[in-house]
Amino acid sequence: MRILLINGPNLNRLGHRDPSVYGTMTLPEIEAAFTARAKERGVDAVCFQANGEGQIIDFLQGEIPRGADGIVINPGALTHYGYSLRDALQDVGAPVIETHLSNIHAREEFRRRSVIAPVARAQIAGLGWRGYLFALDFLVDLLVTEATTS
Ligand code: DQA
Repeated sequence: MRILLINGPNLNRLGHRDPSVYGTMTLPEIEAAFTARAKERGVDAVCFQANGEGQIIDFLQGEIPRGADGIVINPGALTHYGYSLRDALQDVGAPVIETHLSNIHAREEFRRRSVIAPVARAQIAGLGWRGYLFALDFLVDLLVTEATTS
């Protein structure tokens, strides 16, 4: 099983960018924790970050022939207006867990709306870096359940 971890614009700055909101873990540290947890659960993790919407879409389209089984994505600000990203996620066809470090519903008005949520299986917001690991655990449980009941 291959689970993708995708982080969008500005998330390469984690650990330095507004730590009181986004925490002190850097993106490489979060990716290492995610990859370690994936290994424990017996799945492969593929981590990707880009600041451009098109770069993320190119990455997703490249993954279609390889067969992604699940996607954990923090789209950053693309959450709020990234319709092309939303279409690309829908096209992949794998379950998507939209994940945010901060509680986007308790912040500025513009952050409360997600254009990604309608194509996501679920949304996690406000659990910091641990949210990525909860998303991974959920996806593995879901995929194992689907594989054993089909
Ligand atoms: C974020 C929330 C977004 O509103 C913001 O633009 C980000 C990070 C989060 O993880 O809390 O870049 O997705």
